[in-house]
Amino acid sequence: MRAELQALQAEAMEALARAQTSGELAEWRTRFLGRRGALTRLMRRVGQVPPEERPVVGRFANEVKQALEAAYRERAEAIRRAEVEEMLQRDAVDVTLPGRPPSVGRWHPSTQTLREIEHIFAELGFQVYRARDVELDEFNFQLLNIPPGHPARDMQDTFYVTTTPQDGQEEGHQVLLRTHTSPGQIHAMREFAAVDPDNPPPVRIILPGMCYRHEQITPRSEIQFHQVEGLAVGRHITMADLKGTVEYFVRRMFGAERRLRFRASHFPFTEPSAEVDMDCLLCRGEGCRICKQTGWLEIMGCGMVHPVVLRNGGYDPQHYTGFAFGMGPERITMLKYGIEDIRYFWQNDLRFLEQFG
Ligand code: DAH
Repeated sequence: MRAELQALQAEAMEALARAQTSGELAEWRTRFLGRRGALTRLMRRVGQVPPEERPVVGRFANEVKQALEAAYRERAEAIRRAEVEEMLQRDAVDVTLPGRPPSVGRWHPSTQTLREIEHIFAELGFQVYRARDVELDEFNFQLLNIPPGHPARDMQDTFYVTTTPQDGQEEGHQVLLRTHTSPGQIHAMREFAAVDPDNPPPVRIILPGMCYRHEQITPRSEIQFHQVEGLAVGRHITMADLKGTVEYFVRRMFGAERRLRFRASHFPFTEPSAEVDMDCLLCRGEGCRICKQTGWLEIMGCGMVHPVVLRNGGYDPQHYTGFAFGMGPERITMLKYGIEDIRYFWQNDLRFLEQFG
C-alpha cells in the first residue's frame, strides 16, 4: 500500500510538471485529486489495511495528499502568472506610437455651394427664408400665375402627395412636393406684408431648398435637387438692380473677370423674364465640351416679379416692383468642378463626396 502511494505520488508529480495551461491543470486535478481520482480511490482502500498498520498508512496517505495539494497550488500559481504575463505581452500597448488621426467629416458639395451662395447674398443684405417642401398646388402654381393646364402641372412632372387629382376636386387644394422654390415667394411676401398691410416693408431674401420632380433620372436630371430663389421687393426696384445683383453674385462666385449675358426668356411669374449666361469657366468663351461649343454657360432664370404675383403676395403693383431669380446649386457645383453626372450627388458614394473640401 505504501509503495503504491509512493508510486502514485511520483507519477502525479511528474504529470504536474508537464501541465502547461490552466486547462491541463484542471485535468490533472480531476485525474489525481478528484472524487474519482487515483489518490481518492487508493485512500478508500486504507480501510482494508490490517488495524495495526492502519494509522501509519493512513498518516502517510494524508501526507501524500497534502503534498500533492501543495504542489498543485504552487503549479497553479505559476501557470496563472505565466498566462497573465503572456496576455500582457500579447496586448501590449506601445505608448510611443503616434495616434491614429480621427477621420474628419466634411460638408456635402451641395451644402458647400449653398453656403457660399448664402454668404455672398448676405453681403448684399439678403436674408435666408426657409419655405416648406410640401406645398399646395395653389402656391406651387396658381398664385405664381401658372395657369391650369400648364405643362408644368402634368402628373409626369409633379409628385402629388394626395393620390391622383380627382374629378371635381378643386385643383388648388392638391398637395404636392414643390417643383421649384418659387412658391416661397408668396409665403414670404405675405408674411412680410402682414407686418403692416397698408405699407408693407421691403423684401430682400433668398430661399434655398430641395425641389422634386417626377422625372426620368439621367446624368442631367434628378428627381430631387436644390434651388436657390431670390426675391427683392420694394418701391423703386428696377431691372438695373436685378442686373447689378446678379453680376455681383456671379463675379464673387466664379471670378471677377466673368462676363455675363442676359437673354430674353419667359416665366409665368416674371415680366420681363431673362436667362443669365456667363462665359464658360473652362474655355473662357472659346467653345469646349462643357459649354457645348457655345462659349456660354446658362446659370439662372430671372426677371421682374409679375404684377399678379406681387398682388398675390400682398404688395400693390401700383406702388411696388421687384425682381426674382432662381438657380440650381447642383448645376453650379457641376460647372465649377466639371462634374458630368448629377446622379453622383445623392448616391452617397464616399469616393465622390471625399473629393470636396
Ligand atoms: N422657378 C423656375 C424653375 O424652377 C426658376 C426661376 C426662374 C425662378 C425665374 C425665378 C425666376 O424666381 O425669376 O425653373
